[in-house]
Amino acid sequence: MLILAVETSCDDSAVALLEGAHPIAESIRSQTEHAGSGGVVPEIASRLHMDVLPAMATGLVESCGRDLREVEFFAATAGPGLIGSLLVGLSWAKAAAFACGRPFLGVNHLAAHLFTHYGGPGPVEFPAVALIASGGHTILFLMRSWMDCELLGCTRDDAAGEAFDKTAKLLGLGYPGGAHIDALSELGDPFAVDLPSPLDDPSSPEFSFSGLKTAVRLQWQKGARLEDLAASFNRTVAQVLCSKLFAQVERFGAQTVLAGGGVTANRMLRSMLKDGCSRAGARLMLPDNPTDNAVMVGRAAAAILDSDPQARSSLSCNAFARWTGSRLLPLVS
Ligand code: KG4
Ligand code: ZN
Repeated sequence: MLILAVETSCDDSAVALLEGAHPIAESIRSQTEHAGSGGVVPEIASRLHMDVLPAMATGLVESCGRDLREVEFFAATAGPGLIGSLLVGLSWAKAAAFACGRPFLGVNHLAAHLFTHYGGPGPVEFPAVALIASGGHTILFLMRSWMDCELLGCTRDDAAGEAFDKTAKLLGLGYPGGAHIDALSELGDPFAVDLPSPLDDPSSPEFSFSGLKTAVRLQWQKGARLEDLAASFNRTVAQVLCSKLFAQVERFGAQTVLAGGGVTANRMLRSMLKDGCSRAGARLMLPDNPTDNAVMVGRAAAAILDSDPQARSSLSCNAFARWTGSRLLPLVS
């Protein structure tokens, strides 16, 4: 089952060719053009996707010695994300599927962050608790199986990645800020600055990060050392993510913790997740490539087809900006 997967939900143009859940080749172009703007400029992002995506997709297939007409399934992220960006990848994949007379699958980007673990080494034991921490989302899910994923709670305001990006901006670091804060944290004392963590009751699966950046600003104005502030901020975010996650692991007797989204690249968070899982006796699945990519979209498509070989999206499948719901499904019809 040869799958061509496309991801353009934000500022990364990504394509991947997979045989089932196994990647054959992938290609990513990250848009560095937004660096000076302090955030992604949606119209610029859409134009850049348009400039590069068609040639990236056909070039990837050709570089594998294959022809576009050999692709059996075309998959693309339908949402959530920036509408203009999504429409570029989605429209290309739908048009290619139509032109080649092949089925098209629209994929939910949040689910794809979790399905990055599909087809990995060994079967995933359920129930699992899943954390998505990215630039736009911070969500906990209970998964009873791959296709049974129930929302436990999410952020009430900023996402964890957004908190990293906004805090980095006010500290005068570059965009996106997560990796900068991560690197600086290695040089600071994570317990030097006391920062509030609102909604920090571990038993509540809801998050709030918007107050943190104000607290960082006050400490910055009082003269806290940059490295200490970065490390203390990083620890506060990682701790609140982990305490809530592991409360749910205990509540449901979870066998596995699945994590995904750009923030799971964070070294302090990864180390706390490892410690927490070894204490809880749960298997931890951390992505090798946590930021947006097309392999995760292709794996979601493979999982959809494994569970229902007749699954299809209609060619009227549209882009959507936000996901709201209580059950997360990978297929967008
Ligand atoms: O999943 P992703 O690539 O895109 C979205 O779907 O949002 O996540 C991007 C987010 C950004 O907010 C970025 O600052 C954050 O992931 N991020 C990190 C790190 N690397 C990327 N946050 C903390 N530590 C990192 N090392
Ligand atoms: Zn993402």
